[in-house]
Amino acid sequence: IMARKFFVGGNWKCNGTTEEVKKLVTVLNEAEVPSEDVVEVVVSPPFVFLPLVKSLLRPDFQVAAQNCWVRKGGAFTGEVSAEMLVNLNVPWVILGHSERRALLNESNEFVADKVSYALSVGLKVIACIGETLEQRESGDTVAVVAAQTKAIAEKVSNWTNVVLAYEPVWAIGTGKVATPAQAQEVHFELRKWLHDNVSAEVAASTRIIYGGSVNGANCKELASQPDVDGFLVGGASLKPEFVDIIKSAT
Ligand code: G3P
Repeated sequence: IMARKFFVGGNWKCNGTTEEVKKLVTVLNEAEVPSEDVVEVVVSPPFVFLPLVKSLLRPDFQVAAQNCWVRKGGAFTGEVSAEMLVNLNVPWVILGHSERRALLNESNEFVADKVSYALSVGLKVIACIGETLEQRESGDTVAVVAAQTKAIAEKVSNWTNVVLAYEPVWAIGTGKVATPAQAQEVHFELRKWLHDNVSAEVAASTRIIYGGSVNGANCKELASQPDVDGFLVGGASLKPEFVDIIKSAT
């Protein structure tokens, strides 16, 4: 069984200017962090900055796109295809982020189709799932994340290139981080779901990372939870503090 390498993703969302992006990359390039055998670091700028970031970023850090189209490119105005990301040597893509699920009505099935297509062209995928506050308060957390995962599992046979990002919607951008126990509980249930519905091997080897108000102060305790294999960081990934989060790998 493959050990799960700690994974730290920085989702820059729809932020930044050329100057800000260059500054942030300089901070990352100068950071002293554990080696890439210990932690996989992936930053995700908006599409338009991907070539710039790729050209400047240290070689032990990787980049991810924040979305891609659901099938082969063509007459889809305004979209960016998975093939284009491959062509630019962008190895990763974030799919199913809750902002897109909520604001652009991306359904479980649509997200699963995107995951499947992106994997088929050779991209690696950070697949996001998570419950709303209302769903948590009505006791539906596990059912919701299981349904989101099931939709993906129905269309994906090889999980090698998938990282599952558990991002409770109520914790995103709110400063209201899940407690280490809350995160661990859902990660444990997700791994159990993979064990029972996919395979023991996929359950043991798939990284399940946490996202939602992760910062330099709360990352260490979250990282110590047995089923938390890393983070997907929003706000704090735009600050030098992201380096502290990378360091929580050890
Ligand atoms: O994808 C990362 C994310 O949605 C969390 O954002 O700002 O709460 O760290 P933030």
